[in-house]
Formats: sequence, C-alpha cells, structure tokens
Amino acid sequence: MEKPLTGNFRSDKQAVSLEDYERAGGYQGLHKALTIAPADVGELVKKSGLRGRGGAGFPTGMKWSFVPMGKDAPHPKYLVVNADEMEPGTFKDRALMERDPHQLIEGVIVAAYAIEADIAYIFLRGEYVCSHDRLERALAEAKTKNYVGHNILGSGYNLEIHLHVSAGRYICGEETALLNALEGKRAHPRTKPPFPQVSGLFGKPTIVQNVETLCNVHHIVKNGPDWFRGLSKTEDGGTKLYGVSGKVKKPGLWELPMGTPMREILEDHAGGMRDGLHFRGLLPGGASTDFLIEEHLDTPMDYGNVQKAGSRLGTGTMVVLDDKTCPVGMVWNLEHFFAQESCGWCTPCWSGLSWTEKILLAMEQGKGSRQDLDTLTFQTKFLAPGNTFCAFAPGAVEPLQSALKYFGDDFRKHVDEQRCPWK
Ligand SMILES: Cc1cc2nc3c(=O)[nH]c(=O)nc-3n(C[C@H](O)[C@H](O)[C@H](O)COP(=O)(O)O)c2cc1C
Ligand code: SF4
Repeated sequence: MEKPLTGNFRSDKQAVSLEDYERAGGYQGLHKALTIAPADVGELVKKSGLRGRGGAGFPTGMKWSFVPMGKDAPHPKYLVVNADEMEPGTFKDRALMERDPHQLIEGVIVAAYAIEADIAYIFLRGEYVCSHDRLERALAEAKTKNYVGHNILGSGYNLEIHLHVSAGRYICGEETALLNALEGKRAHPRTKPPFPQVSGLFGKPTIVQNVETLCNVHHIVKNGPDWFRGLSKTEDGGTKLYGVSGKVKKPGLWELPMGTPMREILEDHAGGMRDGLHFRGLLPGGASTDFLIEEHLDTPMDYGNVQKAGSRLGTGTMVVLDDKTCPVGMVWNLEHFFAQESCGWCTPCWSGLSWTEKILLAMEQGKGSRQDLDTLTFQTKFLAPGNTFCAFAPGAVEPLQSALKYFGDDFRKHVDEQRCPWK
C-alpha cells in the first residue's frame, strides 16, 4: 500500500536529506501549487476530504474557505503549525518532524500559499529538541533553494517561516491559547467568535493546523483529490498515522489507510497483548478520549465510526489497558495530569479536576467511600461540554466517564475492600 507520509523514512531514524527528499518527488507539490490560483489549491484540499489530524477532525479545506482573500483582505495573514503534541500517548507529529522535516515545510508553504499568508509559525513543544534541530536545519536548506522567502521560485509569492519553541503547557495545544502564547500573553483560550480564520494572531486572519494535517497537503496538490480519497478504506480521505502504547508486544506507529479496524492495528501491527496479559480496553485517540472495550475492536478507526462506538478518533494513537493494570490507578494517573495542566481560567475546570483527582487517589489508597462514586459521576456531568470555557475539561473527564461505565465493578471493589485489589 502507498505510504505518502512515511514512505521516505530512513531505517536508521535519521532525517531524510533535502537531496533524497527532492529525488523522491519532494517540492513538486509546491512547484505545481504555484501554477494554480491560491483559492483553487484550497478547492483541491476541500475535494480531497482531508480532516484535521490534531483531534477535532474539522474539514481542512472548509476551514481555509473562511479566510478573507483577495486584495482587500487584511494583512499580514498567518499560518500557524500546531506542533505542541502534549497529548499523553501521542507521538505521531514528532515522528513526522524528526524523520522527514522537509515534508512538513513543503506542506506549510503550500497551505500558506492557499490562504495567501505572509508569515508562518511552527509552534513546537519545548521537549522536542531533536525535531527543533532538524526543522531548523531543513528550514535553512529550504531558504537556500528559494522554497521559502522572497519571490518563491519566481512566483511573486513571499513567505517567512519562524520556529517558535513553546514554554510548555498542555493548554498551549488548544488553538486560541496557542495564539495567546505566541503573542507573549498568558496561555488561556480565547472566546470564539471571532474565530482565528478572521481574527487570530495579532488580530489578523490565521489558520492553525496540525503537523500531520499539513504533511498531507502538497501530496493532495501533486496527486489530486481522487488519489487521496482512494488511499482510505472509508469516507474520510487519506492514510492515518496510528499508534499503540501500553503492554502490547510491539508498541509503535504505523501509517495505514484511514478506517483500518482497531483489531488489525492492535493485533497485526502491535502484535497483540504481551504474554500472560489480556486486553481490557483502550483509549483510541490519546488520553482525552473515552475508553472502548472488546466489543468495539472491529470498529474502523475513522472519525464517524469511532464516534458511533462512543468515543473519538482524537489523535489516532491508542493507549491500551490490560487485565493486570488497575483501571482506577490508570484513570487517577490521567486525571492527575489533567488537574495539573488546567490553565485555571474557569472555576469548574480547575476546581473540579483537582477534586476529581483527590477522590481517585483516595480510592487507590483504600480511603474511598460509596458517596465518592456519586461525586465522580457528578463531576463528569459538571465538566461536560458547554459547562467550561474550552474543550479541555470535557476531554479530561472522557476517560473517567467511560471507566465508570465499563469498569464500574473495579471502582466499587476499591471502596468495598478499602484497598486497591491490584496491590
Ligand atoms: C486542550 C487541547 C489541547 C490540544 N492540543 C493539540 C495539540 O497538541 N496539537 C494539535 O494539533 N491540536 C491540538 N488541539 C486541537 C487544536 O485546538 C486545533 O483544533 C488543531 O490544532 C487544528 O488543527 P487540525 O484541524 O489540523 O487538527 C488541542 C485542543 C485542546 C482543546
Ligand atoms: S476548561 Fe480548563 S483549560 Fe479550558 S479555559 Fe477553563 S480552566 Fe482553562
């Protein structure tokens, strides 16, 4: 099968060089894009069915169509790459940046051209030092070949690209908090509307896009929307980077057709559970998605089908729970992370998550009560969509609400036996 995103990855894990990238057809998508009107590049992306790979799955071409275009549009316009990737269990963007940095840079230039952006920022997770060094080098190479900068390849189009290292908070991945961080302000989310497409960075039209999303863009321009749709097993176009972590035989990351069934990813690619362990459940798309269990394993991993099963595709990187790991302990660990990472802007989130975390810890330590179970259920409703300023808190309680649903007996045992049965 075709692997447009990872097909050039080197087995020694070094970055693909500029020469090898060009030899494999790299920067041809850019050459082609520059011969097409910007709005028509956006139309190609719209037709391809590309949906954002950062978690929400918003149709990419449609998002671009909200950006004011033409001579009366406000400038400068910005394209911002969301390379924050702090979702626990998620490591797909890091692989793309470390292994093939020119692929991301080409995607950035083509996407920026499509919205007539003047400046692009790559907002990079602080710990991603290797990604930083390889992107910095690739950017310098791209400048010497006039892929970036003034009058790109004689087209009259100008674009600056800057690499910005995050000071490091999970909330900086939320696109409007990211824009505040980039402006040097406190990183809390902004009220929407206005949406960034109209009033984003420094109040100017801005598109924020995930790394994996952008890596697809120039392939679509080069090969066409029908080719892209043909890569997928379902109605959402393209391939997808799927990951598996947890106690499986071969944890890792694979580029597969969008809509590959969960079971195939888990058993054929991740090698199934380690000897002596049995599968209990998984978070399909990173820490802030609902658990799914055995009965869901034949679900195709795409946006619509995972949602029908009761969760979200999220980042497509699964975290697996086995039968020798305490689900209460696992959920406590996640809620501990979320309580620490709440930006503190709205009360239900910062107060509710730290309360939730304390109750789960007490349960793990054999000090929980039956009333605590009701309080946990209350918290999942209290922090549901619409009750907090941004999507962080509803995401944070997704693993908890589904653990209470599927592993409720484990919670009750902790309370009734006044101990963790796994210890
Ligand atoms: C709390 C929170 C954290 C997020 N973290 C990331 C992230 O690290 N990377 C990312 O691409 N999107 C993240 N998102 C989603 C972004 O807000 C935004 O939807 C995304 O960058 C848009 O790009 P896409 O359409 O290409 O997915 C996060 C959202 C929330 C609510
Ligand atoms: S929901 Fe949490 S992360 Fe989002 S604004 Fe409120 S306090 Fe901040």
